[in-house]
Amino acid sequence: MSSLGKLRVAVIGAGAAGLCAARHLLSRPDTFAPPVVYELTKYIGGTWVYEEKVGSYDNGLPIHSSMYRDLRTNIPKEVMSFPDFPFAKHLPSFVHHTEVRKYLEQYCDHFRLWDHIQFGTSVASVSPVDVKGGWNGLAWNVTTDNGVDHSKSTTERFDAVMVCNGVNRSKLTTKYLCAWQQNTFENCLDLQIPVATCYQLNSQSKGMLMHSHDYRSAEPLAGKSVVLLGAGLSGLDICMELSNVDAKVILSHGQRPLTCPLPPGVQQAPPVTSVLDDGTLEFKNGERAQPEVFLFCTGYNFTFPFLDKKVGVNVQEHLVWPLYKFLIPPAYPSLFIVGICRAICPFPHFHVQTKFILSVLDGSFRLPSREDMEKDVELDIAARRARGIATRHILKLDSEQWAYNDELARLGGFKPLPRYWSNLYESNKVFRARDMLNYKTHNYTVLDNMEWKVHDLHGQELQKPLAVKKQM
Ligand SMILES: Cc1cc2nc3c(=O)[nH]c(=O)nc-3n(C[C@H](O)[C@H](O)[C@H](O)COP(=O)(O)OP(=O)(O)OC[C@H]3O[C@@H](n4cnc5c(N)ncnc54)[C@H](O)[C@@H]3O)c2cc1C
Ligand SMILES: NC(=O)c1ccc[n+]([C@@H]2O[C@H](COP(=O)([O-])OP(=O)(O)OC[C@H]3O[C@@H](n4cnc5c(N)ncnc54)[C@H](OP(=O)(O)O)[C@@H]3O)[C@@H](O)[C@H]2O)c1
Ligand SMILES: *[C@@H]1O[C@H](CO)[C@@H](O)[C@H](O)[C@H]1NC(C)=O
Ligand SMILES: *[C@@H]1O[C@H](CO)[C@@H](O)[C@H](O)[C@H]1NC(C)=O
Ligand SMILES: *[C@@H]1O[C@H](CO)[C@@H](O)[C@H](O)[C@H]1NC(C)=O
Repeated sequence: MSSLGKLRVAVIGAGAAGLCAARHLLSRPDTFAPPVVYELTKYIGGTWVYEEKVGSYDNGLPIHSSMYRDLRTNIPKEVMSFPDFPFAKHLPSFVHHTEVRKYLEQYCDHFRLWDHIQFGTSVASVSPVDVKGGWNGLAWNVTTDNGVDHSKSTTERFDAVMVCNGVNRSKLTTKYLCAWQQNTFENCLDLQIPVATCYQLNSQSKGMLMHSHDYRSAEPLAGKSVVLLGAGLSGLDICMELSNVDAKVILSHGQRPLTCPLPPGVQQAPPVTSVLDDGTLEFKNGERAQPEVFLFCTGYNFTFPFLDKKVGVNVQEHLVWPLYKFLIPPAYPSLFIVGICRAICPFPHFHVQTKFILSVLDGSFRLPSREDMEKDVELDIAARRARGIATRHILKLDSEQWAYNDELARLGGFKPLPRYWSNLYESNKVFRARDMLNYKTHNYTVLDNMEWKVHDLHGQELQKPLAVKKQM
């Protein structure tokens, strides 16, 4: 505890999750000292800071954001926002990414967050320290530097740490990639340089290999033949962009075949199973393709390189564990890892997680014992596995996110999200599954705590696809 008896909390990252943490900590000056938010870059917004460049910033650090030039949100602003800070009224429901960055800047203005953010500061290590009389007998040493020169570092002591560092690009270590690299880009792995740069170094080679992290716009791929691996939201959105520039796309994925209309020039294939010596890709059904571009839309990984090994947070096949309520390592309950769940509505999810964390720290919710939390984590993971959920999908909450949010609100004793939230969000998912080409032209209107309506491009009101659940 600080000398004034208030809890000092460090926040790692000034993306949407870190800003949300700061906003709520600042609103409780009775209990919390002003937070310290460490942000590696010079900007707030994380993912929402578009960088035209790929690879590294001028200081050599890897570019964080995977944003591309023409991205519009895939969640209507009515439910994408933090529940206590709506997007501007004049905006359509699906906004361009620049509007989200503006929105987050306005959030910083409104809640006066700017002065609490230390820009150009990279968290290099987070270590628990035993402290008698500390929160749960613990405190945290947080060591920072400028991310480039590790010889000049500073260590500060905190009562709690909220980890909000977002996701990192996976290092593309699948077997397909290795095969491609052996053929065409043999030095990429050793050189540790981005694949897009590799391509330029090897201009005589026949194929270009890239990850969606390095995708910025469709023009460089105009008219090309592309095998796009992975039909997550990146894969689907990017194949629409490629279709617009007349690329010939094979969308290769392991899900059930999509049944909605696909963009012109896009066809589906099962996953790529091998790469032949000459670089030809072979699909699971035996068919082959020799594309000019092999584009990985295979998602992103979590990494917590700064976290002391002793804390015992493991990352394996996209599962981060053991974490009570996907947030708290049972042995170190003043550390919080925010925002690792997937297939969720991110901003409101961060809001709920943050409010819950505050209720833990201020004592209004008493955590179970370490043993009970460990048991809870074990049972929860076992139950998901028993339902046939693969390890790599355990953190995908999807429609279960609403029960999760409600549970945290109940345990933490704070207001749950308004009732329309889940129904509107889930309805948008239905519209997307039916018609991925047009769902972003809809506009939503919220009428009251429960009711909302939706109009199509021509101003026609659409029938709502899901009934509103009666309150339990
Ligand atoms: C292409 C794409 C499109 C998306 N579209 C949508 C959408 O339409 N709607 C939606 O709601 N969500 C969307 N998302 C999800 C998006 O990730 C979340 O909305 C949200 O931005 C995640 O915020 P975050 O704070 O968890 O992480 P990030 O935004 O990644 O922020 C993390 C921050 O931590 C900083 N950081 C990392 N490591 C350190 C360190 N060691 N020290 C200091 N600082 C550090 C980074 O610089 C960064 O600023 C999209 C994601 C992607 C990749
Ligand atoms: N605003 C927008 O329109 C927009 C656009 C892009 C992205 N986003 C957001 O960005 C985030 C990340 O999305 P994402 O699509 O990049 O990642 P993702 O959701 O993790 O999807 C990756 C997909 O790739 C598949 N995959 C992985 N390895 C594969 C392999 N070897 N062979 C075949 N398929 C493979 C995965 O299948 P398995 O799950 O079976 O492994 C998964 O379906 C999400 O939050 C999303 O909402 C939003
Ligand atoms: C924590 O930081 C202090 C001050 O820098 C240092 O003296 C101490 O050894 C550190 N403790 C641990 C466990 O890292
Ligand atoms: C990213 O995740 C994939 C799939 O779980 C894994 O194969 C790969 O090694 C991970 N990469 C890193 C850098 O952790
Ligand atoms: C959606 O709303 C925006 C802003 O109010 C408006 O400009 C746009 O025309 C609307 N679009 C549809 C499809 O109704």
